[in-house]
Amino acid sequence: MTDHPDRQAAIIAQSDHYLLPLYKRNQIALVGGQGVWVEAADGRRYLDGLSGIAVNALGYGDPALVAAIQQAATGLLHTSNLYYTAPAAELAERLVQQTPWASNVFLCNSGTEAVEAALKFARRRSHNRAPGDHTGIVACTHSFHGRTFGALSMTAREAYRTPFMPLLPGVEFLEFNADSAQIEQLLNEQVGAVIVEPIQGEGGIHMATPAFLQALRARCDEIGATLIFDEIQCGLGRSGDMWAHTATGVTPDVLVVAKPLGGGLPIGAVLVNATVAQEIHYGDHGSTFGGNPLICSVANTVMERIAAPAFLSHVRSVGTALGTALRDLGERYEQISDVRGRGLMWGVECANHDVSPIIAAASDAGLLLASAGPDVIRIIPPLVISAAEVDELVQRLDSALHSVYS
Ligand SMILES: Cc1ncc(COP(=O)(O)O)c(C=O)c1O
Repeated sequence: MTDHPDRQAAIIAQSDHYLLPLYKRNQIALVGGQGVWVEAADGRRYLDGLSGIAVNALGYGDPALVAAIQQAATGLLHTSNLYYTAPAAELAERLVQQTPWASNVFLCNSGTEAVEAALKFARRRSHNRAPGDHTGIVACTHSFHGRTFGALSMTAREAYRTPFMPLLPGVEFLEFNADSAQIEQLLNEQVGAVIVEPIQGEGGIHMATPAFLQALRARCDEIGATLIFDEIQCGLGRSGDMWAHTATGVTPDVLVVAKPLGGGLPIGAVLVNATVAQEIHYGDHGSTFGGNPLICSVANTVMERIAAPAFLSHVRSVGTALGTALRDLGERYEQISDVRGRGLMWGVECANHDVSPIIAAASDAGLLLASAGPDVIRIIPPLVISAAEVDELVQRLDSALHSVYS
């Protein structure tokens, strides 16, 4: 079909008519993509600085990914978890091999589902210690863990929470990067689970300090609580390491991952250590689609690519260049109050400025971006972005900043 503005308008009108208005969508209907570029129905091309919200790590139309999907589609699409399949077994082994402290894996279909499963595993552990005890849960300020009742209960943003009260009881919020005294005070003997993003995504690209994670680890060990790291957004290569927590030297009991794992297809995974694994029993949890052979086959290809040392060193090198270029922008625009991030996960903070006009101007300049909170521009391009494309991204952001701030 020929690209045409009318086609774009028709897709938008149909969507707005029939889909619930849950998202603030850009007035762009995407129809295709190649590498780090996406194409809209009106024929415009955009450089993707968002990756479908940290999902499309391998970009669009990656030949190995396309081949893996085509190959998998000729095999079993679904079997249920009442039978074994090779792709799920292989994926679980790969995930454990990439995670020295982990022993076992649960496979599900999304990030939120992985969070829900992790919370249940932690609660199961508490229950085994003393039924009905150690049921408290601690999450962090600025956190985002998902939109279902359990995950939403751990999510800090009031606007997401208030219309759905009451949420899970017994959840407390600890200041992100709190000191040991605050940790000791909030993490009392009643607490059974602590969940934290090593690099917060939706909440504004905030990096947990190694000292904070170390203190959480130490306190969880003292009180017997399960420490859960949510690497749904920052994991699987985005930080320049396979896992963002590795650089901090702190290991959790449970790790939740999702977004890029399926290369654009829905999948989530929960990795647990041997201590947690021995507390989980038949019937404690389950999922019809979790471990689906088609998606696991594709996820094996994604894992193989991301785990390659050359792939991760590429992320580190283009990520460092991106950080340097963004800091240069920070020097040039007084509205930019902070530039922070690692690998290919960056936030450009414009304190007390609504960044939505910048996001809109970037889109006009052919660059897709999103915010992370009201005053942070989030930059999370596909991990396969080249050095030249990083330059192009920064130039387009520069012109967006220029059009709004000069
Ligand atoms: C850190 C984090 N946890 C959980 C989620 C929820 O994942 P999903 O949207 O796949 O359910 C997200 C999604 O943005 C996330 O960034």
